[in-house]
Amino acid sequence: MPFNSDEPKPSFQPSNKVKVMSKPMPPPSRGGSYMGQPRSGGTSGMEGSMSVNSIMTTKEKQKYIEDYNFQYCDEASKYEKIAKIGQGTFGEVFKAKDRKTQKKIVAMKKVLMDNEKEGFPITALREIKILQLLKHENVVNLLEICRTKATLSNRYKTTFYLVFDFCEHDLAGLLSNINVKFSLGEIKKVMQQLLNGLYYIHSNKILHRDMKAANVLITKTGILKLADFGLARPFSFSKNSAPNRYTNRVVTLWYRPPELLLGDRNYGPPVDLWGAGCIMAEMWTRSPIMQGNTEQQQLTLISQLCGSITPEVWPGVDSLELYTKMELPRDQKRKVKERLKPYVKDPFACDLLDKLLVLDPSKRADSDSALNHDFFWTDPMPCDLSKMLAQHTQSMFEYLAPPRRPGHMRPHHQQAAVINPTAARATTSSVESGYQDRVF
Ligand SMILES: Nc1ncnc2c1ncn2[C@@H]1O[C@H](COP(=O)(O)OP(=O)(O)OP(=O)(O)O)[C@@H](O)[C@H]1O
Ligand SMILES: [Mg+2]
Repeated sequence: MPFNSDEPKPSFQPSNKVKVMSKPMPPPSRGGSYMGQPRSGGTSGMEGSMSVNSIMTTKEKQKYIEDYNFQYCDEASKYEKIAKIGQGTFGEVFKAKDRKTQKKIVAMKKVLMDNEKEGFPITALREIKILQLLKHENVVNLLEICRTKATLSNRYKTTFYLVFDFCEHDLAGLLSNINVKFSLGEIKKVMQQLLNGLYYIHSNKILHRDMKAANVLITKTGILKLADFGLARPFSFSKNSAPNRYTNRVVTLWYRPPELLLGDRNYGPPVDLWGAGCIMAEMWTRSPIMQGNTEQQQLTLISQLCGSITPEVWPGVDSLELYTKMELPRDQKRKVKERLKPYVKDPFACDLLDKLLVLDPSKRADSDSALNHDFFWTDPMPCDLSKMLAQHTQSMFEYLAPPRRPGHMRPHHQQAAVINPTAARATTSSVESGYQDRVF
């Protein structure tokens, strides 16, 4: 479970756009009020022989549940599944078509209910509440919540789906295909939209907490959408009050910032900006830049790239819970620009990367200052992606792509070799040889 129980609960006003009820409630056997309405014109157990005050038989209860009319929550069968496009930690994602219009294409994310004894999972509820709050061109659009009918054949277990506007690609899928070539102006457009999305969500006091290429969607017209708010949460700054105690078990390891790896629980938007830096570098390297196998290894890789983690470069780091518990390489020089230069030829890009991949979160660029960086304001200016994407008719998703080559960024001395991303498959030996091989 990504959330600790000690995390403060989100404090949103529920929107009336999408309402979710976890289970249909049978009517009380003696009077009382009802949560929903039997389907009009249907054959609900409320009609015919049964009166409000009578005790329902099992059959009548089953019929009532089957016919229960969830307001605001249509049946998932209104969509026809076309293909599976994702398999995440929390469920499957499908591409589907609206049966009625035969036109509207959506993505349906199944809500995993397997381990839920207490009704609708709190993680999915959070994701929904946050998605209801966020409405922006660069954030994935939640259309509605759907559910399957509860029947005897599924043992009266309803499956819920989050239904989104469909995006043709995710960035991990695009980067894993060598035929997809981004020009400098196109990379700028990707990063500008990504930072715009972050600027928007952070302004709305939401942390994403799972920035990675697979969670960045791109439509065929070149519009980028931040997706997967399954780990997102609201945040507030704890200026005069007690420090926040958010869980630090968030963010996919390869994109996890040093403060989380060192046990910080009072973190904020900079955690997402670290991920933005990792994704930005990946636009050139085409593969995640730091692929540790453990939290310790990840910290080692970060130190080898960004320099030793010390109170000199990061005042206060020594008070983080894991500072003395983790092994932190000493005497490492900061080499972000030096080691990225062979991939990222543009000096403005290198400079922005250097400002995003900063160890001390309080000195890391925020989305506003990143958007103001010369990288976005010098020729070639950010340019539309639709022309480039029009050359590719197939959708590209991480789930459908071959595994990307681990360790695209080589040890420094091997770096001269031009790396061919077609060799995207990880060999067993490269995996077994450990992370050291993968440090460039
Ligand atoms: N709206 C959408 N349009 C197209 N594809 C989508 C959409 N939403 C999700 N996907 C695809 O499904 C994948 C998984 O979705 P998502 O990241 O939301 O689920 P998840 O279960 O939280 O994943 P994980 O735990 O692996 O991060 C995405 O990486 C993307 O490829
Ligand atoms: Mg995801």
